[in-house]
Amino acid sequence: MAAVKGKNIMLIGFMGSGKTSIGIRLSYKLQMPVDDTDKIIESREGMAISEVFNVYGEDYFRNKETLLLAEISKNTSRKIYSLGGGTPIALQNQGLIRKCGTVIYLKAKPETIYDRLKNDTTRPLLRCEDPQERIRTLLTARDPIYERCADIVIEVDGREQAEVLEEILSKLDEQKANE
Ligand code: S3P
Repeated sequence: MAAVKGKNIMLIGFMGSGKTSIGIRLSYKLQMPVDDTDKIIESREGMAISEVFNVYGEDYFRNKETLLLAEISKNTSRKIYSLGGGTPIALQNQGLIRKCGTVIYLKAKPETIYDRLKNDTTRPLLRCEDPQERIRTLLTARDPIYERCADIVIEVDGREQAEVLEEILSKLDEQKANE
């Protein structure tokens, strides 16, 4: 079984890159609990993320993300966390995410993201006239940040989740062996 550096595993990447579903699969394989920062915020706020954006605005949501990361970084628990796609963007969040544990970036091309999310209505940032262009612009800006933040980068385009999972497990093992 793959061993894990640090206490948590932090899955980062753009919306639709597979963080939630890979997190669940990884949780079975590593026998570690899994959580999703968007879901935690939704349950605390008592509303969906899209409503949080509508009612309180994006800055309010971003502040909740930072507070939650600070909380996770202080916890002694060992978990897998799927993070919202925008969580690593704020500079202070990058330090917090790295403090939380091993960071895995699920890297996807804009075409893959668009294909997966073209019928999605739950992402407020993609509710715009040209979601394809929005994905491209956001991803171009975010990809270097995700790369910088990550210990492990996994390309997900055109791959089955099982294959992605195997690569994650083997990279975690490699990382452990190099420690
Ligand atoms: C966001 C991604 C979403 C959610 C919110 C903002 C972003 O999470 O946090 O809609 O800025 O990319 P997922 O990456 O889980 O879709």
